[in-house]
Amino acid sequence: MAVDYEIHDHDVLIIGAGGAGLRAAIQASNAGASVGVVTKSLLGKAHTVMAEGGMAASLGNVDPADNWKVHFADTMRSGKMINNWRMVELFAKDAPNQVYQLERWGALFDRTPEGKIMQRPFGAHTYRRLAHVGDRTGLELIRTLEDRSIHTGATVYMECIVTRLLKDGDHIAGAFGYFRDDGRFVLFRAKAIILASGGWGRMYKVTSNSWECTGDGVAMAYEAGAELRDTEMVQFHPTGMVWPPGVRGILVTEGVRGEGGLLKNSLGERFMEKYDPKKMELSSRDVVARSIYREVQEGRGSPHGGAFLDISYKPADFIRTKLPSMYEQFKVLADIDITKEPMQVAPTVHYAMGGVDVDGDTAATTVPGLYAAGEVASGLHGANRLGGNSLSDLVVFGTIAGQCAADHARGIASFPGIDDAQIRDEQEILLRPFESGGGENPYLIHQDLQDIMADHAGISRTGPGLEEGLAKLAALRERACRISIKGSRIFNPAWSMARDDLFMLTVAEAVIRAALARTESRGAHWRLDYPELDPEQGKVNYMVCKADGCMEVHAAPIPPMPPELQEVIEETS
Ligand code: FUM
Repeated sequence: MAVDYEIHDHDVLIIGAGGAGLRAAIQASNAGASVGVVTKSLLGKAHTVMAEGGMAASLGNVDPADNWKVHFADTMRSGKMINNWRMVELFAKDAPNQVYQLERWGALFDRTPEGKIMQRPFGAHTYRRLAHVGDRTGLELIRTLEDRSIHTGATVYMECIVTRLLKDGDHIAGAFGYFRDDGRFVLFRAKAIILASGGWGRMYKVTSNSWECTGDGVAMAYEAGAELRDTEMVQFHPTGMVWPPGVRGILVTEGVRGEGGLLKNSLGERFMEKYDPKKMELSSRDVVARSIYREVQEGRGSPHGGAFLDISYKPADFIRTKLPSMYEQFKVLADIDITKEPMQVAPTVHYAMGGVDVDGDTAATTVPGLYAAGEVASGLHGANRLGGNSLSDLVVFGTIAGQCAADHARGIASFPGIDDAQIRDEQEILLRPFESGGGENPYLIHQDLQDIMADHAGISRTGPGLEEGLAKLAALRERACRISIKGSRIFNPAWSMARDDLFMLTVAEAVIRAALARTESRGAHWRLDYPELDPEQGKVNYMVCKADGCMEVHAAPIPPMPPELQEVIEETS
């Protein structure tokens, strides 16, 4: 007999209220669907705010030569050509419209002297392309979408954690979870579900990601039978804070380098000259992150184990206007005045290029009725995401997911059935930590997981290291079955941690297994034992799925790019 739960019905249920979730909510509501949006956190508090420096779109306001083709080619090249080229095409074409749509909805972008939307340079973008609001672009995007979405009639469930996707046969049928405030269980019945739940950075110790980013969506989709793709591709943003220890990993926006910040080692050398003399500090993120890592490994790091990032040669007013959050962040958290002295920075886990495999035109996953958009989805960014492409990703594919999920729901007459066994099973998993006498602490399991990922699946990897990591994960999973917690279901963060541990263990295994399969170095995936690009592996994506209860990885050939897109790549080389 299942423990009591409340029930809510929606045509379209959206899990996650960041940029992708809110944009999908607006689109699905406008298409006539009844929409529910579930967020672990509070409305407006989304990890989207961590994309600070801007939103990439070929508006051509500052560099008129820019256009969708150059943006397409930059994104494919940065992704080392394993991107879903159809997604990149749709994205590069639609991103400018989405910027103007946000502006019409009230987003206040910085302006050029003539009054157009200002654009700044970012790593590996050919042109100045990032529409921005100082260094608070993600925040402005969320503010705008939040404002708009609450007027479209979507119902928002705040501080609500979804822990299981439910199915009726092959089709998605709903989701189960609980409210954090009093622990009451909740069943959402839905005709279509959109995952917009973000990434999984919290499985790493040094990360820019906030507490919500525990891979729930990816793990739930995997358990529901969806295929994952390219999970080995984890982005290390080159510049996170390193000091004091409590702030290690917090993002230092690429906007600092976009506005002229210089990277130097302990000898005062601009070391990017060695690694990418052409693009220097504005090389792609994988290259800059590896370069800082190498300088530190070779003994030329800053006192706290990073590199110096210096913009203090620019006028103080310019820095405070262009980078107000960075000025504030260093002043308050590190007692550093960035208008007078350099920052110390080092790579920090920032973004997952891998995730749930989706169809570019519809955002549909391989499970009927299940859609995914934003960081939880995979394909757009290939092996390495360009800075600024995430904000435009959220709105382009949030729109597609919202529209297609609403269209799908319209074709379904009544809510799919949900058998009680699925609900009982999830309740059993959720309640086990209260009843188990196993004595394992969920926070220590999380800490050990972070150690495993840092030691075995970090910025550089080797086959034996990954194998060892996999064995450690298996042992950790055994321990996770014995998690016990005290107290009740009322606002009990240890209870959430216990379920998050299980999500992260699944995703960690997918990262390591795919990293073992990809025996080459490509983009963010750096294998010391296979340091070169392998042209053959440039023709495949590594897919992860559940087969007979076990995790399986296989290579899937990338469909050939149509001639007109190949021409775009050649034209822009
Ligand atoms: O550095 C940044 O401002 C981050 C932007 C992004 O990840 O797109």
